[in-house]
Formats: sequence, C-alpha cells, structure tokens
Amino acid sequence: MTEATKAGLEGIVAGKTSISTVGKEGLDLTYRGYSIHDLAKKATFEEVIFLLLHGELPTLTQLNEFIDQLMSWRSLPPELQTVLKLIPKDCNPMDVLRTGCSMLGTLEPEKSSSLQLTIAKRLLAIMPSMLLFWYQYHMGKGSIETSSESEKTIAAHILHLLYGHPASPSQIRALDVALILHAEHEFNASTFTCRVITSTLSDFYSAITGGICALRGPLHGGADEAAMEQIIQFKSADEAEVGIKSMLTKKEKIMGFGHRVYKYGDPRSDIIKEWAKKLSDEPSKKNLFAIAERIEEVMFREKHLYPNVDFYSALTYHFLGIPTFLFTPLFVISRTSGWCAHIFEQRANNRLIRPIAEYVGPLPKPFIPIEERN
Ligand code: SDX
Repeated sequence: MTEATKAGLEGIVAGKTSISTVGKEGLDLTYRGYSIHDLAKKATFEEVIFLLLHGELPTLTQLNEFIDQLMSWRSLPPELQTVLKLIPKDCNPMDVLRTGCSMLGTLEPEKSSSLQLTIAKRLLAIMPSMLLFWYQYHMGKGSIETSSESEKTIAAHILHLLYGHPASPSQIRALDVALILHAEHEFNASTFTCRVITSTLSDFYSAITGGICALRGPLHGGADEAAMEQIIQFKSADEAEVGIKSMLTKKEKIMGFGHRVYKYGDPRSDIIKEWAKKLSDEPSKKNLFAIAERIEEVMFREKHLYPNVDFYSALTYHFLGIPTFLFTPLFVISRTSGWCAHIFEQRANNRLIRPIAEYVGPLPKPFIPIEERN
C-alpha cells in the first residue's frame, strides 16, 4: 500500500531539473544558478531566453546573433493569417495562441527532433505576432505587418504592435522585467504538462500547446486577469478592505495570492511591485496602487497569505495600457522559453512519465447480465 499522496501531488519530487529552483522553502528563485533578483535588475528577456535554452548567459556576439534570428522569424505565413482571422473576436485570446501554435505545427512540422532549437526560437518570435495580429484585426486595423525590424526586443515588439507606435524605454523595460519574471518556474502545472507530453515522444508543438492549455486556468496563469478584475472593482482602499474581508468570509479565493511552493512570499512579487509603483504616475493609477497595497495588507492580516507573481504583474500590465484579456497570453509568450528548455531537458534523458494511483474504488464483483439488472 503506497503512502497516500497529498492532493495535487503537493510536496512530491516528480523528477530532476537543472533549469531552475525555487530554493529551500522557496526563499529564492534561480534560473541556471542566477538569482531572479540579478536577472530582473541586470539582464534582458532575450539574455534570459538564451540562458534557459543554452544553459549559460550569451556573450555580446551571441546575443546579437540571437536577437537577429528572433527578429527574422516574426512573420506569419498566409495560411496562419487566414486561420487567425477566422478566430472570433470574443474568444479567450489563450485560444488564439493554442490554435495558432497548432496551426503553425501543421505548416512547419517538426520533421526531426534535431530541429527543436529552431522551432523553439520560431515559436518565441512568432507568438507576439499571432496574438497582436488577431487582436488588431478584430480592432478593425486589417492585417497588420508583424515582421517589423524596427523593434529589436520581444517587449518592444509587443508594445509597438499593441500601441501602433514605439513604446517608451521605461514601458519597454517594465514589460521586459515582467517577461523575465514569468519565464521559468520549475515543475509548475503547465511545465509539467509539457514534460508529460514530451515523455511520450510526441512533437514539440503538441507539448507547447499542452502547456498553453494548462496555463489558461485561473488557478495557474489565468490568475493575473482575475486579479485585475478584483482590484478594479473597488473605488478606494477602504472599500477594498471591506470587500476582500467579505469575500474571505464567503471562502472565496482572492486571485494573485497564495502559492503551492512559496509559503513566505513569492520573490518575484516584490520585484514587479516596484515596477507597478514606478508606473503609477498619475492620481487614478496611484489610487489603484493604494487599493492593491490594501488588499495585500488584508490578505496577510486575515489569511497570512502573500501576493504571487500575478498580483502586481496585473497592475503593471494595466498601467502599460494592455487590455486585461491579453495578460495571460503575455504569460504564455514568456513561459514558452521555460517550456522549451524543459522539453529539451526531458528529451535529453527521457523516460515515459507514468505515476501510479492509490485505488479507492469498488472491490472486485461478479458481472450481472442486463436482463437481471433493475
Ligand atoms: C502561478 O506553481 C507555480 O509555480 C505557478 C506559478 C508559475 O510561475 O508557474 O507561480 C504561477 O500559477 C501562481 C499562482 C496563481 N494562482 C492564483 O493566484 C490563484 C489563487 N491562489 C490559490 O488558488 C492557491 O493559492 C494556489 C492554487 C496558488 C495554491 O493552492 P494550494 O497550494 O493548493 O493551496 P490551497 O488551495 O490548498 O489553500 C490552502 C489554504 C486554504 O485555506 P483552508 O481551506 O485550509 O482554510 O489557503 C487558502 C485556502 O482556502 N488559500 C486562499 C488562497 N490561496 C490559498 N484563500 C483565499 N485566497 C487565495 N488566493
């Protein structure tokens, strides 16, 4: 009889990885040994992608070559543009990336696993194009050009496609840091989904599509959108205090709080909170920031729960003028870098992932013919 496993595989070591760790008791997150604090302060998202995919930070020459490659792979094949236009305006944009990734897999199939690095870079480059092409098409902008060579980085490319003009350096850096913070996080639900699919020797696009599907849920990636909806419903910090307490009394979840592995706070939250504060440069934004801080205070006082990466990321995206329903797709664009690294790692030392279950069903019993069943 196996020892009963805690629900949700809590605390179960389900494999080895050299890509990242949340540290002892989740006290610090590192990617390939580099602290998230150093990466968020001193690196760019492109350096972090290179680090995750190749295991080491790039030299300046390697970084420039890497950026040029990503820039050259932003274009959308005509067949993919046709499919994106057919996706309804009111669908969940996570379904745009799920469908777009699957469609790209039919147009540019993975003929050999030796192509995995190329496919990884193509997906990282094209996802912003897919998302914003669909978004702007349904905003009445027609078929926008997505392979613009004017913006060197993914953060700058995303904001330019969204705004229709270049973003400011501080707006670009705020999004760049958010993409760094969301890039990788050990065996979270969506990453583990990618590894399970990879372990069956399925293809690259299937694994990434599975990751997108898992991240869509509000208990995982979808929390950032839900958190924004919760923050924006309050007009003042005092009103938020009353509202959150009432929700807690009704045992409702406050999105953007709590975490399976971080019991003493998510190290990413303090970093992105600083950016939300920097961007709250006018009265209405300052009021929203004050509401968020009060929610944080109430959650600690009442439940001893801390904000996770999603809470202040939501506010940062909102202050960047990003529509709420595009928040989780941004998480996909970032986390695709971590997912790709885990697919490489799983393939390099693969064994089918197949745990066992603790059976709690009926004892063996004789078959009853249908005429005797009442
Ligand atoms: C991400 O895993 C990762 O690494 C994920 C991620 C990544 O980078 O990939 O970090 C990204 O997904 C962050 C998490 C985003 N999700 C949310 O913000 C959704 C709200 N959070 C909760 O649903 C919850 O905290 C989870 C899902 C994040 C973690 O849930 P657990 O570990 O299963 O904890 P639990 O639900 O068993 O809660 C334990 C207790 C319960 O109280 P009791 O019933 O024991 O009295 O804490 C309470 C819960 O009710 N609780 C909350 C709460 N989170 C936990 N109560 C109110 N609001 C919350 N948000």
